[in-house]
Amino acid sequence: MSSLDQNIASEETPGTKNFAPFAITPALEAEATKRLAQFPDQQKRSAVLPLLHYIQHHHGFISAAAIDWVAATIGIEPIKVLEVVTFYPGFRQSAPGKFHIRVCRTLSCAMGGSYELMEKLCELSGIDRSHADSHHHPVSVSPCGNFSVEFAECLASCGSAPVCMVNDDFYEGVIPEQAEALLKKYS
Ligand code: FES
Repeated sequence: MSSLDQNIASEETPGTKNFAPFAITPALEAEATKRLAQFPDQQKRSAVLPLLHYIQHHHGFISAAAIDWVAATIGIEPIKVLEVVTFYPGFRQSAPGKFHIRVCRTLSCAMGGSYELMEKLCELSGIDRSHADSHHHPVSVSPCGNFSVEFAECLASCGSAPVCMVNDDFYEGVIPEQAEALLKKYS
């Protein structure tokens, strides 16, 4: 068991089925070799971000095993990798749904109805956000594992609030009444 298991929030979710478990594959090792070669000897720790992005892209989230591997590969303490994972909201510590919806909750979007949009998305997809919090459990997953939601800070399109993202797709001016159509598009 990883020494970090007591400090990270990587419990299973219904979304776990959507992603292959973290594994040290030849492709991952090749990626590490490529990334490490991009930085001078004194700056190898800068490879932390691209390696974490690669792992999250392929495995859905950053597990304790992934943190240990990144740390060992770069030659730094696992806590330093965990600090990066917990600092950037874009990194997750548990599996999201197949389609992960990020709803902006900053001022313009909040005033435009993003909280109501979030409520509607949860109601329609059966997601229970009662245990969600901004730090340890920002992601809530539907029982079927297909959808997950998370509040995000400003997504840089304040003039077209409220906005949200479904995986990498960006949507502007999404009112709660459009939530059903949005979910259907990905069902
Ligand atoms: S406040 Fe929502 S995009 Fe800026």
